[in-house]
Amino acid sequence: MSSFIIRGDICTSTDKNTILTRENSYVVCKNGVCQGVFTEIPEPYRDLPLQDDTGKLVMPGMVDLHIHAPQYAYRGLGMDMELLSWLDHYAFPEEAKYRDLDYAEKAYDIFTNAVKHSATTRMAVFGTLHREATELLMDKMEQTGIVSCVGKLNMDRNSPDTLREGSARESIAETERFLRETLTRYHNTYPIVTPRFVPSCTDECMEGIGKLSEQYGVCVQSHLSENPGEIAWVRELCPDTAFYAEAYNRFGLFGKPQKAIMAHCVYSSDEEIALMKENGVFIAHCPASNMNVASGIAPIRKYLDLGLRVGLGSDVAGGQTESLFTAMTEALQVSKLYWRIVDNSCQPLSVDEAFYMATKGGGEFFGKVGAFEEGFEFDAIVIDDSRLPHPQELSVRERLERAIYLSGDIKALTAKYCRGKQIL
Ligand code: GUN
Ligand code: FE
Repeated sequence: MSSFIIRGDICTSTDKNTILTRENSYVVCKNGVCQGVFTEIPEPYRDLPLQDDTGKLVMPGMVDLHIHAPQYAYRGLGMDMELLSWLDHYAFPEEAKYRDLDYAEKAYDIFTNAVKHSATTRMAVFGTLHREATELLMDKMEQTGIVSCVGKLNMDRNSPDTLREGSARESIAETERFLRETLTRYHNTYPIVTPRFVPSCTDECMEGIGKLSEQYGVCVQSHLSENPGEIAWVRELCPDTAFYAEAYNRFGLFGKPQKAIMAHCVYSSDEEIALMKENGVFIAHCPASNMNVASGIAPIRKYLDLGLRVGLGSDVAGGQTESLFTAMTEALQVSKLYWRIVDNSCQPLSVDEAFYMATKGGGEFFGKVGAFEEGFEFDAIVIDDSRLPHPQELSVRERLERAIYLSGDIKALTAKYCRGKQIL
């Protein structure tokens, strides 16, 4: 069924400052493409099957711009360290296990089952440096119906023997094989070039994968300016760059020629911000992770006001949950702390802005995605907020606001559609 109508209480972002809500209305999907939101079913669509979700909230699917699949195994554990020691003590030992495909099979079954049942319809996913385990992850992501980009990581320096590629040449060759094998293998799952972060990749490796990204037309994802210790280390490792992003940009890994997602950007300098804007880089804001590994608070108000592209990331297991509803709540909360404690000229984010980042803002990375607009790919979720009872009259807008803050706690998701196909 890729042509149908859903009836319900519709919520969608028009721009970053506006959530459009329509009570008891219709959103039309034709051949997997959204035709718009209507208060009456227009004549040409009268014969399409109707999905009746009267009284429920119907909104675009959530977009997670940054998540680590192998780290899902230890989510909620190991929150007692800062980033660099957290990587050494928790992330790297866990990721080393994915050399064993039996372990990967078990762990990735758990991960893909969890994200399938989440509100997320689009994801940018980090695997591990292991090509085979990452291809196994892609097989499993494909079965969820979610549209995702999945990366085999590059790591050829500054990591333990158990989690480091033998040389830059090996790292590049494995990446090329990964791209060749997965580029056209799936309908909904795509490879993405994934240097873990600057400390993990030699210049030779970055240069090689930058060329592959251009040659195969594949996007890029990585981490940027996350934590003070990390940034100081990058400065030492790259004395000939003026700021962190240059270490990606000089190898074509920073939004040009291919789109790029950079997670965090907590401490980006004015020059770095200007380059992100110029190159159209997507920022993945991951507030939970920034709290849990004590990185700080990203100045998202500033990025949005400057017109940068910003989406949300769960960053499991730096973040404790894959719920983008929780990520929206945390983005709102940390923006208030930033305003109160760091810079009182940066107004807190609004609910409209948080919802925009979780849908249309991040969705832009995937094309016309993340809103119920004519011509957009049809991704939708249905939330039964009657499971959050209330005695008073609430508008659709108020119910959405409550759902953002509260539905991380309950099982309120009753249906999910991706590219016009019902997947839950
Ligand atoms: N920087 C490099 N690797 C990682 C990771 O796994 N998680 C986070 N949050 N930051 C990183
Ligand atoms: Fe991360």
